[in-house]
Amino acid sequence: MKLLVTGGAGYIGSVVSAQLLEAGHEVVVLDDLSTGHEDAVPEGARLVRGTLRESAADVLGGAGFDAVLHFAAKSLVGESVEKPGLYWDKNLGESLALLEAMRTAGVGRIVFSSTAATYGEPESTPILETDPTRPTNPYGASKLAIDTALAEYARLHGLGGVSLRYFNVAGAHGRQGERHAVETHLIPNVLRAALGEGAAVRVFGEDYPTPDGTCLRDYIHVADLGRAHLLALEACAPGVHEIFNLGSGTGNSVREVIEVCRTVTGRDIPVEAGPRRAGDPAVLVASSEKIRARLGWKPEHDLTAMVSDAWTFLRSR
Ligand code: UFG
Repeated sequence: MKLLVTGGAGYIGSVVSAQLLEAGHEVVVLDDLSTGHEDAVPEGARLVRGTLRESAADVLGGAGFDAVLHFAAKSLVGESVEKPGLYWDKNLGESLALLEAMRTAGVGRIVFSSTAATYGEPESTPILETDPTRPTNPYGASKLAIDTALAEYARLHGLGGVSLRYFNVAGAHGRQGERHAVETHLIPNVLRAALGEGAAVRVFGEDYPTPDGTCLRDYIHVADLGRAHLLALEACAPGVHEIFNLGSGTGNSVREVIEVCRTVTGRDIPVEAGPRRAGDPAVLVASSEKIRARLGWKPEHDLTAMVSDAWTFLRSR
């Protein structure tokens, strides 16, 4: 297939681009390089530098694309609370420009990076796709609005769309890994501390109603997450919008993650207790039963493999 990957210079977009190329597809990456890296775009993919608003119509027009995988987004929860307008403009506004460009060009399939943040504070665990969506920040709200737009484009324009709601993505896939200028995520921060690059790891809250008092999250290896995109692409059906959670179905605490990092790196990682981080739910765990049953997907990598691959990637740079 001929595929457009928006945000293919970013962490997850670059991993999925590599997997699509490995599977024999033709890949064009559209990325404005505002947070992505040119050298993360895998060899064999063509990079077009630009925003969706400026360039999606030009790239898609008359070029015979079969589908779009849409990763390009702003994705920091904290930043979204400080600059909600930026998140609505970049995430929803640019996605609408992409959808119109697809419609004009007659491209009928899309796989979209949605997020666990669309659910907000969960009512019950594990979270099902049918659970209420009450995002607690503009990042989650803007992604939920795109899911809603996709459903409308499916119903009214016959688009075939799949939204994949990611939980906590970690690990690396060969040359492609996590390289954020501002790193807020737990695993890369703990590994930087193991390298001796960062300060001590701060545990954000040890008084949650969980077994060890720290937050439980559902970690998923980026290569397992990526495979789900290839399955979703095949499953896009005209006029249908489907939502699938993507997680492992089990929760690991912040303290457990740090212990796995200590074991994998063999290093002493300095840790200090800190206050809770605003907006963190105690437990976020996905039910991934729907994607297992419908698309036959299941995760193949455990937390040790995620940490190990992230550690190899970090040291290679
Ligand atoms: N944490 C620490 N110290 C750190 C970094 C994180 O204790 O230095 C804790 C957090 O408080 C949280 C857990 O580690 O309990 C995981 O935090 P991350 O920042 O790695 O991930 P989040 O669960 O906050 O965020 C993820 C995705 C978001 C998505 C969100 C859904 O990265 O994109 O899940 O709610 F929005």
